[in-house]
Amino acid sequence: MNPTRTLLPMLGHTRGGRSAATCHFKCGDACVKPDCNNSSNAYFRDIADSALSRRQMLGLGAIGASALVVGPQLFGAPPASAAEVAVAGKHGSHGGKLGFQAIDPVSRSVDTMTVPEGYDWHSIIRWGDPLFKRSPEFDAQNQTARKQAEQFGYNCDYLDIIVDKYSGRTGVLVANHEYTNEDMMFDADWFEANKDEARRIAMNAHGFSVVEVSRKKNDKKWTYVQGGERNRRITMQTEFTVDGPAAGSDLLKTAADRTGTKILGTLNNCAGGTTPWGTVLSGEENIDQYFRGRGTAEEARYGIAAKATERGWEDTDPRFGLHHEGFENEANRFGWVVEIDPQNPKSIPVKHTNLGRFKHEGANVRIAKNGKAVAYSGDDSRFEYIYKFVSSGTYRKNDRRHNMTLLSDGDLYVAKFAGNSPAAEIDGSGALPSDGAFDGTGTWLPLVRGGKSMVDGMSVEEVLVYTRLAADKIGATKMDRPEDVEPSPVSGKLYVALTNNSDRGKAGKEGATEQNPRVANRDGHVLELTEAGNDATATKFTWNILLVAGDPKVNSSTYFSGYPAQKVSPISCPDNLAFDSAGNLWISTDGAPGTIGYSDALHKVTLTGKDRGRVEQFLAVPTGAETCGPVIHDKDGSVFVAVQHPGEGGSFAQPASLFPDFVAAPGKVKKGQFYGPRPSVVQVFTERQGNNGNGHGHGHGNGHGKH
Ligand code: FEO
Ligand code: CA
Ligand code: CA
Repeated sequence: MNPTRTLLPMLGHTRGGRSAATCHFKCGDACVKPDCNNSSNAYFRDIADSALSRRQMLGLGAIGASALVVGPQLFGAPPASAAEVAVAGKHGSHGGKLGFQAIDPVSRSVDTMTVPEGYDWHSIIRWGDPLFKRSPEFDAQNQTARKQAEQFGYNCDYLDIIVDKYSGRTGVLVANHEYTNEDMMFDADWFEANKDEARRIAMNAHGFSVVEVSRKKNDKKWTYVQGGERNRRITMQTEFTVDGPAAGSDLLKTAADRTGTKILGTLNNCAGGTTPWGTVLSGEENIDQYFRGRGTAEEARYGIAAKATERGWEDTDPRFGLHHEGFENEANRFGWVVEIDPQNPKSIPVKHTNLGRFKHEGANVRIAKNGKAVAYSGDDSRFEYIYKFVSSGTYRKNDRRHNMTLLSDGDLYVAKFAGNSPAAEIDGSGALPSDGAFDGTGTWLPLVRGGKSMVDGMSVEEVLVYTRLAADKIGATKMDRPEDVEPSPVSGKLYVALTNNSDRGKAGKEGATEQNPRVANRDGHVLELTEAGNDATATKFTWNILLVAGDPKVNSSTYFSGYPAQKVSPISCPDNLAFDSAGNLWISTDGAPGTIGYSDALHKVTLTGKDRGRVEQFLAVPTGAETCGPVIHDKDGSVFVAVQHPGEGGSFAQPASLFPDFVAAPGKVKKGQFYGPRPSVVQVFTERQGNNGNGHGHGHGNGHGKH
């Protein structure tokens, strides 16, 4: 065994807040490649990339988070220093049914879940856990593609726990599997000798899992049900159907599918959304990294390079090589929003072309006053756009079959923003303009309306398959990597996580704008958007920035809607959004270790009242991990997260994390034995009833789920 060998060589440098391994495996090194959007559809402004002035020095307390420090210390990683574990002041949380005291930010070397006092955690399901009655147990040394197809996949991202109303003690857990970390999944020597099988394992570790969960009476803890009737794995071999105006288009036909309506598999499924009718939407995001291109302009606009891919799937399955005759269009069959019915394991999942093709982070639906289903979606790359789809049909309560057709036919729009402050007052530092707010108005520009293309020179099919190019043409607004775009179920306001954009203000790139007010935006921001008349079908909106993220202790450019910065938890790289029953916003992060230096986290943000803008950290994930898919069951005293890529940067032989089982110290591990991290779904819960959990009990879990 050669523990130092990397299976997929990394480029050795990254930008923004992620580790090199995250950049490499998750996005295909998108952050070190040129931006794909070179259109000149928005105005440019000269921005002085001046050093930010320090606005205030904040005095912070020094109370350590309650955490079990396990993994990296065993491997010689530096322990949490006093400087690393700078802390936010303690304060109780208000609103919603989850009472907690914000935890202190956690050193990135802490290899466990850190949760508030009075809460505990356990893993519900982990990579490799068997889903069906006769599925094989996980054995990393003897993994096969066939086994992986019957086991929970890798790197869970979108997550929901859909509780059966009739029981309250049963339900389904739905999770996306965004991508694979071959370095951590495979012994390096075995990988070299078994590349085809390793690639097929990786293909089967992508996709979705649907798995039944249950809990005992008077027990908060959910466990998964092996062999549950609704259990399902969706992999790269699962057949999807295609609907909407581009279904059957020549642009979607290949040698393996002359109809352009049957697609095997789904790729890089990142975030998603559960619809009001109970299905799950999922965004196919960084699809470019899986395909070897031919060098066309359309491929370039989607980031597909005309060279061999690092994963090499094109050598195992010809459809991943667009240079292979008959498969020129295969990449056009990915980059969609897909819909699955988690209640019916025999249902055929759908790719909805009417929502456009781009690097969908996810999609979230709001039912408008007139009954139309409105789906919002962000294109998560630097300088990309925010979209919305408005259905032609209307929602019918308790008519699931009908509602599952709503995303098949409708209008597609892209957002154009305008600020209301003089351009000269937006200096790129994050300093507020003289009217005291980053705010303004906006328009949803139609791309497809009434079944017709609204883009000169492009057919409806072309607009939907090459949506980025269509949006360039009509002057959409370039944003700082739109991740989750999610309407509040309480207020209807839309929240947009703009995770970061290290390129804003660089030579030849767009500078600061009121809607993206910082150059070299490392920490990201969150934007609040109100549709005109609070009507989701409106074509006009107003907007304001809710928070400009960062660590206020060291960064003067942060903003929390006027809430005192010294009283918030530091937050960076907002990614996934969720709401609790009171309408508080919950934000998970992806990239904080590389920016503010703390582990990725889950935060609660109060949106209304005197505490508007207050950010309170609820949990931190283990070393190397990203916090994904937050699900807030606050009435039930539970929060669920997908812990994605724990230990990223380590390897099979030298894991950087032992999460979630902490099975052995390295000195006791036999050569070749797997003891490394397993991406997992975690439940955080308080045993106390009602609106508390403050200051009682213990603050960490043992990490051993019952399986
Ligand atoms: Fe897969 Fe945009 O995060
Ligand atoms: Ca303004
Ligand atoms: Ca994401």
